[in-house]
Parts: sequence; structure tokens; C-alpha cells
Amino acid sequence: MNATQDSAGWVQAAGVSRYTGTAAAPGTRVLEDCSVSLPPGQLTAIVGPSGAGKSSLMYCLSGLDKPNAGNVWVSGIDVYALSRQQRAVALRERVGFVFQQYNLVSYLTVEENVALPVSLAGSKTDRPHMESLLATFSLRQQRRVLAATLSGGEQQRVALCRAMLLRPEVIYADEPTGALDTGNTLLVLDVLRDLATGGTNVVMVTHDVDAAARADRVVFMRDGRVAEVSGRLSATDVLAGMRGPVAAAGEIGEA
Ligand SMILES: Nc1ncnc2c1ncn2[C@@H]1O[C@H](COP(=O)(O)OP(=O)(O)OP(=O)(O)O)[C@@H](O)[C@H]1O
Ligand SMILES: [Mg+2]
Repeated sequence: MNATQDSAGWVQAAGVSRYTGTAAAPGTRVLEDCSVSLPPGQLTAIVGPSGAGKSSLMYCLSGLDKPNAGNVWVSGIDVYALSRQQRAVALRERVGFVFQQYNLVSYLTVEENVALPVSLAGSKTDRPHMESLLATFSLRQQRRVLAATLSGGEQQRVALCRAMLLRPEVIYADEPTGALDTGNTLLVLDVLRDLATGGTNVVMVTHDVDAAARADRVVFMRDGRVAEVSGRLSATDVLAGMRGPVAAAGEIGEA
């Protein structure tokens, strides 16, 4: 492992391709030759039509799904050069993931779900931090409620708390506001924006052009490819970019 101070929080991918099926009998092309370089301290929005490969790219970028070709580095660690177990150990405190379908454990309580990665890592829960996260996301009343009984929006907020508890260097959030009302959408975007401003590398998939307009960079995906990477854009330009190139609109701010 060659994580260094300088590479902390960086996410880099080079030539990432993902196919279903086997090498002998390849199935669907999910990702084709995707390369990105995402610095810490920035909020990146990944946008594109349904089926463009946004979730698949996030899985590859986070160590959850090994690509068929290409490399991914998180904090300078060549993620897929490691065994599955080494990868889990290397990334469990560096990476937080908010799944599109939340992936809570239905028979555990809100608190138990939030603390689950910490328990699995054999670490001690930072109670004050957990309290503050539950308070931020208005979940203190439901702390002992089973996840199975929560609304979609509540589950989504529990998933955010879970991803943030270990203060990871990188947070991946797959449509983190998809189930939220307007008030909670704004709250979650503020929290993600603040995390990025505080130094975390925040990568979110979103269908919401206003959410994408809060990002420092926008990655446009089309047909499994990174079609374009832009700097900050207005909601109007994000919408335009979903339809075609936005070449002149945003300059990518280097960290
Ligand atoms: N394991 C798999 N087997 C077969 N096809 C797959 C698999 N995983 C992904 N795909 C296909 O790859 C494409 C990209 O899927 P992905 O979930 O990454 O899209 P997405 O951009 O996140 O879409 P959405 O906005 O609907 O969430 C889709 O056509 C999907 O059906
Ligand atoms: Mg998706």
C-alpha cells in the first residue's frame, strides 16, 4: 500500500471498463474506458441518463466492484491490486458509501445501522459524533426504531449518517436526495457541500440539476462512458450538458 500524505482523499480512475459475463462470453458493456481524477475538498456530481453507468462507476471507484480493465486509486492505494480482504481493510475507514437503495439492515435499529461499519471494523463508536449526526438529520427520536419501519426518506438519512460516522476521506453517495422532500434535500446538500469544503472528497450521483449545480465539478456519463468533465455549472448548463457537450461552460478548478 502506498498511501501518502499527498494522495490522501484523491480518487483516480484510468481506463476503467466493466462488462457482465465472462472474458470468453462477454455480456453487456456497463463501463467503457472511464478515467477521472477527483481531488479531496471538492463535491463532484455524476450525472447522466438512467442506465448510463453512474452507479456502476461509483461501485468501481469505491472498491466494491472490480473492473475488467483499468485501475482505481483511492488515497493513492491501487485498490484492485489488493486482495478482497486487504481492500476491505484498506478502505473501510477511508470510504463511506450511501447506496441508491440505502442497504440498511432491516432488523437492526437506526443506531445499530449507523454504527454497523464501526462494529464490523472492530472500532469503538464515537458517540458524540453519532449523536451530532442523528441530530443533524433529525433522527434522534427514531434511534431505537427498526430500520424496516422507516420511511424511504428516513432510511436515506440513516444511510448518510452511517457513511459519515467514521469521517472517511471519501464519501460516495448514489442519489442521496432521491427519496427526500425539499427541506431534507436542501439539508443533505448543505451537509455534503460542507463536508467537501472541510476537505472530504464527496462524489454524488444525482438526477437533480439543482443539486449538480452545487458541485465543484460535473461528470457527464453517457452509454457507459465519461462523456465530459466540467467545472462548476449552472442548473441550466447541467441540463444542457445532459443533452450535449458543454465545452465552454465550466473550467475545472484544480485542487
Ligand atoms: N450485473 C449486471 N448485469 C447486467 N447488466 C448490468 C449489471 N450491472 C449493470 N448493468 C447494466 O449496466 C447499465 C448501467 O447500470 P447502472 O446501474 O450503473 O446505471 P445508472 O446510470 O446508475 O442508472 P440509474 O440512473 O437508473 O440508477 C444498465 O443498462 C444496467 O442494466
Ligand atoms: Mg444508479
